[in-house]
Amino acid sequence: MSERTQVAIIGAGPAGLLLGQLLHRHGIDAVILEARSREYVEARIRAGVLEQGTMEVLREAGVGERMDKEGLVHGGIYLCFDHTRHHIAMRELTDGRAVMIYGQTEVVKDLIVARLEEGLPLLFECQDVSVHGLNEDDPVVHYRYDGSERELRCDIVAGCDGFHGVCRPTIPEAELTVWSREYPYAWLGILADVAPSTDELIYAYSDRGFALHSMRSLTRSRLYVQVDPEDEIENWSDDRIWSELHQRLASDGWELNDGPVLEKGITPMRSFVAAPMRYRSLLLAGDAAHIVPPTGAKGLNLAVADVTVLADALVTRFTVGSDTGLEEYSDRCLTRVWRAQHFSWFMTTMLHLDRSDDDYGRQLQRSQLRYVTTSTAAARSLSENYVGLTLEQTARATVSR
Ligand code: FAD
Ligand code: DHB
Repeated sequence: MSERTQVAIIGAGPAGLLLGQLLHRHGIDAVILEARSREYVEARIRAGVLEQGTMEVLREAGVGERMDKEGLVHGGIYLCFDHTRHHIAMRELTDGRAVMIYGQTEVVKDLIVARLEEGLPLLFECQDVSVHGLNEDDPVVHYRYDGSERELRCDIVAGCDGFHGVCRPTIPEAELTVWSREYPYAWLGILADVAPSTDELIYAYSDRGFALHSMRSLTRSRLYVQVDPEDEIENWSDDRIWSELHQRLASDGWELNDGPVLEKGITPMRSFVAAPMRYRSLLLAGDAAHIVPPTGAKGLNLAVADVTVLADALVTRFTVGSDTGLEEYSDRCLTRVWRAQHFSWFMTTMLHLDRSDDDYGRQLQRSQLRYVTTSTAAARSLSENYVGLTLEQTARATVSR
């Protein structure tokens, strides 16, 4: 069976789904092909912090209603070290910008409902997806669906299939430059059926390692502890996790409430960038092109920024017939990507305990923590990165490779 569309979108994560939604609002046809089931995609717990710009894009895309009703707007974070909690008043430091606590699972559910309600093509459980014809400028996506072999002819392929997807490996190796870094730690995350013990997120540096108190709602807490990358979830009973959280998050005059653990898992940490983000008619977006360690909550927000730029470029292509936007796409995104890479690395190295580091290194971390919690200039820099630079701010400079 053979079909045709303007944009074949591979992957129904936040990048692919939002791209489909933005294109639909400009009358551009797309088909989204996803390897997993709807249930799997909707249940995959990941990010939880939306930048100011991400909230605005979701509203403009017509999928902000539930986020505005159920999400929690936070105007700051706490940094905790040496048993003392310091507030970073981000809203005041960034001319009123803030973040929204709203799970990636919910963003994905909202986008899926919006697409299916419009009767737009979104195919789950596609098998053996592969991209062909790029060198001949005649792209075609092959896949198997419901037991039959299919092909999808298109003008453009949007590779939104995450870090382990098939799109990036389709690009000839010699055409891509890759930068990456592995970290000597991972995050063990839990979702707990207990009201958050804090009004805003707490990022904690301690002699036992990093911990983070986040949340998903006024009744659900999301918490993380730093663990070794080789560690296994079987080694972590709920009691052991709570005990670490109590110790690492401890601050004078404050109590952490624990409760039933609904979900737990370990996530490795890596920084990775592949450039350029375009090869002929294939455009990469989100985790397919770059990943960051989670400290600072940039992954999902970068994916949203990429597809916002990509949607603009595709609208120019299909309505005006100009490829200028597509030609500029990679450079425009990479400027922002590298800013987020640096910020994620900065937050990660400031807050985690590297067991191979010496006491000198730990003194440097403490000095950096004291600086961002006492200097308005340093706190403002951290804040503008955390709430997210505007697309205009990151578009001012282009990167060189
Ligand atoms: P993804 O969400 O990965 O979506 C890609 C989609 O493509 C998936 O649905 C996948 O099933 C599909 N796919 C893959 N291969 C194929 C194929 N061959 N054919 C068709 N479909 C395919 N970020 C934060 O900011 N904070 C966090 O706490 C955080 N936690 C994370 C935990 C984990 C385990 C992971 C992996 C990431 C986490 N991130 C976090 C990062 C954030 O979730 C991602 O940056 C974000 O999901 C990127 O969205 P995306 O759409 O680009 O990719
Ligand atoms: C969450 C994840 C992050 O990476 C972060 O920096 C803050 C919060 C979360 O899952 O809630």
